[in-house]
Amino acid sequence: INFQPTSFLISAADIRQLPADTGVEIAFAGRSNAGKSSALNTLTRQKSLARTSKTPGRTQLINVFEVSPERRLIDLPGYGYAKVPIAVKEKWQMALSEYLQRRESLRGLVLLMDIRHPYRDVDQELLYWAAESGIPVLILLTKADKLKPGIRKSTLLKAREAAMVFGGEVTVEVFSSLTKIGLSELEDHLTHWFTQ
Ligand code: GTP
Ligand code: MG
Repeated sequence: INFQPTSFLISAADIRQLPADTGVEIAFAGRSNAGKSSALNTLTRQKSLARTSKTPGRTQLINVFEVSPERRLIDLPGYGYAKVPIAVKEKWQMALSEYLQRRESLRGLVLLMDIRHPYRDVDQELLYWAAESGIPVLILLTKADKLKPGIRKSTLLKAREAAMVFGGEVTVEVFSSLTKIGLSELEDHLTHWFTQ
């Protein structure tokens, strides 16, 4: 699939405001600042399709993009942002688990984790929910350019072993929006989910 023609569809403040639950949808999730929006821009070869920021918590809305009719990419708001009140955090986690459980068109979850801080608490919860709901997960260890190749490789192998704990269908790859490492693996995975 060519991801370049992807365009912005809508922003939703709530799971209930998402487009009709038809076709195939793939969601990008992860902690604030993990690099979700950057990965979407890298994938689509567009500089500012999804808004990126040095300030964590930039993406507050659920942004929906259309690759082609009935094929959507979802940029979910990042979690784990310290300045967000606990009540808001809990509400969002509830909505997220509901989305994973109920969304019929959801065929895959891309979970982005900074390669230097993988498997934080909410990441782990998300992996359990995805396994329970039978949603396959592609974990991208982002900002892989921050580590030297040797350490990057050993971190990847450790992360693959750790992924097995959660059950379910989980694949782990390294990724960098800066060097494009892991981009073809991401494209192949999404193409598979969109076309299977
Ligand atoms: P929220 O919208 O707040 O949840 O964040 P996000 O996950 O969408 O992160 P975003 O893509 O906005 O990136 C956060 C910061 O990390 C920005 O300063 C990016 O430039 C930087 N960043 C993203 N990807 C990479 C990468 O592959 N390598 C490096 N070195 N920096 C990156
Ligand atoms: Mg973002």
